[in-house]
Amino acid sequence: MSLEKILAEHGQGHLIPLLGKEGGAKLREELSAVDWETVEAWKHPDDLSGKGRISPIEGLRLSEIGKNRTKYEARGLELLRGGKVAAVLLAGGQGTRLGSDAPKGMYDIGVTRPVYLFERLIENLREVTERAGVFVPLLIMTSGENDGATRAFLREHGYFGYPERYIRFFRQEMAPCVDLEGRLLLGEDGALALSPNGNGGWYSSMKRAGADGDFPAVEWYNVFGVDNVLQRIADPVFLGATALSGCACGAKVVCKSRPEEKVGVLCREDGKPSVIEYYEISPEQAAERDEKGELKYLYGVILNYLFRADMLERIAGEHIPVHVVKKKIPHLGKEGLPAEENGYKFETLILDMVRLAGSCLPFEVIREREFAPVKNKTGADSVETARALLEKNGVKI
Ligand code: UTP
Repeated sequence: MSLEKILAEHGQGHLIPLLGKEGGAKLREELSAVDWETVEAWKHPDDLSGKGRISPIEGLRLSEIGKNRTKYEARGLELLRGGKVAAVLLAGGQGTRLGSDAPKGMYDIGVTRPVYLFERLIENLREVTERAGVFVPLLIMTSGENDGATRAFLREHGYFGYPERYIRFFRQEMAPCVDLEGRLLLGEDGALALSPNGNGGWYSSMKRAGADGDFPAVEWYNVFGVDNVLQRIADPVFLGATALSGCACGAKVVCKSRPEEKVGVLCREDGKPSVIEYYEISPEQAAERDEKGELKYLYGVILNYLFRADMLERIAGEHIPVHVVKKKIPHLGKEGLPAEENGYKFETLILDMVRLAGSCLPFEVIREREFAPVKNKTGADSVETARALLEKNGVKI
C-alpha cells in the first residue's frame, strides 16, 4: 500500500502534502518506520493498562532483613564475586520536570563543590565493588537525544573512577508524538517529533545493541533510575535475599508516608505481583488499613529492581502495555516548550515488567537512607529535598 494511503487510513492526511516538499524524502523514510499500533493507542489512553483486581502483597520487612542480614549478604557477595550480576542505569529520560536540556545525570546538585547525579551513582556502586573486590558490568541506557552528551560527559570525568572496560552504552528507541487529536507532530526541524519510548524497553534495546555481549553471561540485572542520589546499587543484601527467595524479580520499596503519596505501589493484580501507578488506585483503597493500623497498600517502588536473566529471556517476546502520557511537546511553528500540554507521548514502563515476571520480592529499605529522587527543582522530590537527605547521610555537597 502507498504511504499516502496508509497516512490517510490512520488520520494523518495533514502530512501528505509535505511528502512532495523539501525534506519530504526524509519524512517519507521516518513515516515508513512508524509503528501504527502504538500511535493508535492515543485513542484510548485511560483503559490501556487494563488493571485487574488489586489486593495487598506480603513483603520482606526491615526487621526480617535485619535478622537474616549475614546470610543474605554472604549470598549476594558470592553472586557478585562469581560475576553473576550486571548493573543497568536507565538514563534515557528527558528530565522535563527538572527543566534542564542536558542529560539528567549531568545535573550538578552540589552547593560548595560540583556533585553530579552520575557521580553520586557511580560512587555508590564503587562502595560495593570495593567491598566485593570485583567490578560489575555497568550498562548505561541513553536515548537518541542524549547519547552523545552522556558519553562525552562521562568520558571527560574519567567515568568517576569506574573502569571504562566495565562500561557499555546502548540507546533506547524513540517513538513519535501526536497532538491531542492524534495527528503526528513535526519537530522544529520539520522531521517527526520524537521522544524516548519509555524505560520498559531497556532489555530489548540492550539485547539489540549487544551491549552486554562482551561480558560473561550474568544471572541477575540490577536496574535503577538516574535520579535517586541515595540509590544503593548491586546491594549484596538485596541480591542475596532475592536470590534465596526463589523469586524471578526483586523490588526495593519504601513504606508510603501517606495514602496519597505519588509513588507506584507494589501489590497484587489478579493474584500476581504487579506495580500500579498512584493514579490507578482509588483514594479509598489507598487509605485502607490492616488490623495493625498499617496501610494495606504500603509499598512504594523506588525504581531499583533485580530481574533474573532467564525470566527476562522468557518474557522477551511478550506484549508490554503502551502508556499514553499527556505532555508539553515542542513542535514546528512554536518555539520552545508550549505553556500547556499539547499532545501525547507513548511509553512502555519498567514497572509493567514486574507483572510479567510472575513472582517478585518486595524488599523494604529505609527511606531516609536510600530514597532521594531529584524530579523537580523545588518542592517534593526536588533538588532541595535531595540535598537535605545527602547531608543527613554525611555526603559533602
Ligand atoms: P521518569 O519517569 O522520572 O522520567 O524516569 P524523566 O524523563 O527522568 O523525567 P520527566 O518525567 O521528563 O520529568 C524514571 C527513570 O527512567 C529513565 C529516566 O532517565 C529515569 O532514570 N527513563 C525514562 C529512560 O531511561 N527512558 C525513558 O524513555 C524514560
